Amino acid sequence: MKEFDPITYVEDDGQTTPEIGLWGIKKYRLFGAYCNIFTTGMKYKWKQRVYIDLFAGAGCARIRKENKIVHTSALIAAKVPDKFTKYIICEEKEENFHALKNRFINENCDLNCEFIFGDSNKNVEKIINAIPADGTLSFCFVDPFSLNIEFETIRKIAATRKVDFLILLALQMDANRNLVYYIDEESDKIDKFIGNKNWREPFLNAEVSKKDFIKYLAEAYDNNMRSIGYKVNPNLKFKIENTVNTPIYYLAFYSKSDVGNDFYTKVEKMQNNQGKLF
Ligand SMILES: C[S@@+](CC[C@H](N)C(=O)[O-])C[C@H]1O[C@@H](n2cnc3c(N)ncnc32)[C@H](O)[C@@H]1O
Repeated sequence: MKEFDPITYVEDDGQTTPEIGLWGIKKYRLFGAYCNIFTTGMKYKWKQRVYIDLFAGAGCARIRKENKIVHTSALIAAKVPDKFTKYIICEEKEENFHALKNRFINENCDLNCEFIFGDSNKNVEKIINAIPADGTLSFCFVDPFSLNIEFETIRKIAATRKVDFLILLALQMDANRNLVYYIDEESDKIDKFIGNKNWREPFLNAEVSKKDFIKYLAEAYDNNMRSIGYKVNPNLKFKIENTVNTPIYYLAFYSKSDVGNDFYTKVEKMQNNQGKLF
């Protein structure tokens, strides 16, 4: 595998640059390492290696309090030494979408790119149609702020194409904080996240304690992925903590193949051995 440092610091280009916490660096290291092992390892195995970013952002982010700007997911994926054969980049916020497209141009990313504007949950058919049908293995990064990825979106993409997923499960920063609100029948966010309207029952019947909400959702997610043919290894969830060591989310990996799971295991080990955030 070729050397690749996913962390690229850049100057302020005057375009929209969302703020992130320092722990975002850890996410980008793991994500970038996976892109690198995927594109190199699959280069001679799959004619087409496609990158799908369902929540792409603006291409760059400013690290809060540090005043440093780094490349984020889509530009990191664009910079791997062995390129993906196609990039499908989705974003719903107009200013982020434009900044991202401009940055692809300014960085001279001469790549096969398709940019899809709007809500990825609603654009799922467009996204599927953008994936080449034959000889394709895709890597789909799902990086929402909260639990606003509908399981139906994942299910539809997985049903029509061969896709490995890296999914940010915002279980601590969203689910746990907002359980009281989500238990309220009026919120359908969890219903859509795990594709089950009856998830409240075990909590209301006291069969599952509210303190086990995160575990419950993580298991429900794994079971969902299993039910659509993924070889789920519950350990392939990389915990990201903030600067005071409070867990905030998991980066959960799902593949139908042992090769994908082995790659992610290697990447997780590399990150753990590195033992440093930056
Ligand atoms: C946490 S940021 C992730 C940014 C980027 N992936 C990164 O590496 O930092 C989530 C991004 O998804 C966008 N977004 C939120 N909901 C979306 C949706 N339903 N469909 C597409 N994009 C969405 C937001 O505007 C935001 O730019």
